[in-house]
Amino acid sequence: MKMNRLPNYLIAGVTLLGVAMVSLSSCSPSKGNNPGHEFFPDMFHSIAYEANLHDYYYYNTWGNEVEYRKYATPREPVKGTIPRGFAGASSAADYKDKEAYFQNTPVNGFVPYYYEDTEEERTRASAEILENPFPITAEGLSRGEDLYDIFCGICHGDNGDGAGYLVRDDGGVYPAQPANFLLPEFVEASEGRYYHSIMFGKNVMGGYADKLSYEERWQVIHYIRSLQAKELGLVYDPTGNTLNNSSIPEVEFEASMEVDMEQQADGESEDHSTDVYDSDDH
Ligand code: HEC
Repeated sequence: MKMNRLPNYLIAGVTLLGVAMVSLSSCSPSKGNNPGHEFFPDMFHSIAYEANLHDYYYYNTWGNEVEYRKYATPREPVKGTIPRGFAGASSAADYKDKEAYFQNTPVNGFVPYYYEDTEEERTRASAEILENPFPITAEGLSRGEDLYDIFCGICHGDNGDGAGYLVRDDGGVYPAQPANFLLPEFVEASEGRYYHSIMFGKNVMGGYADKLSYEERWQVIHYIRSLQAKELGLVYDPTGNTLNNSSIPEVEFEASMEVDMEQQADGESEDHSTDVYDSDDH
């Protein structure tokens, strides 16, 4: 080997230089109470905050798991905070709790919708969205009626029969037949089928997501249900609902709220204060 020909002092010198370089440039290892030499410990061992995650962070190198959890667990939002794009009043209970309702419903009415504009997703939304989150109220129905007449009635007909002004027999110009909500198919259709249609439309019908807020969409659906009930001689108003079991009338809703209040007084209610982080509301 060629190396044998190199003078020994040169080999020793190069080796020493190498060792010196390595030990100068790297941090010395920690041991026992000695944390070693670290020039930017905060950067190397930061607490790895993972937003809205309750899990222990696998690569955490700071402290132990208990200490980690003490610092890296999602906190309660400051009271009164309105998170951007928060899911609005997501249940009838929120609606009744005025404070929560106004805090949770962003002024622009934006609420995330977790379904895409495809036929498979329409089917999925129809199968999964089964309840109107707002109780049936007189104000809601009257708001729903106004909005329906403005945005839907022109095609779907003021009474929901699919014969609106644009498709009227004497001179209607619209090229396609709007759905007739009074047919059994649409009376039986789930809330999701309506909500999805409002979000994305269907074929030649455009979507109304940009024109109706989250709550307005649901009030329009309430109103369509009330038209169906009228046609069938059933009840769908604040006093009762004999049409379907997807919506609670105000009376039942108030009664259920009273039960809730009693339970709360008995200390039986669970603490839902952290639900917002755990919910999987799609
Ligand atoms: C410009 C006319 C027009 C307007 C306005 C309109 N629609 Fe439609 N809508 C249609 C047509 C046409 C169809 C049939 C689409 C198809 O099946 O190809 C339809 C279908 C539907 C369906 C049935 C979708 C399905 O799953 O088969 C629903 C629900 C619906 N519309 C709700 C609404 C609501 C709620 C509004 C008001 C926010 C509205 N539409 C406004 C034309 C309209």
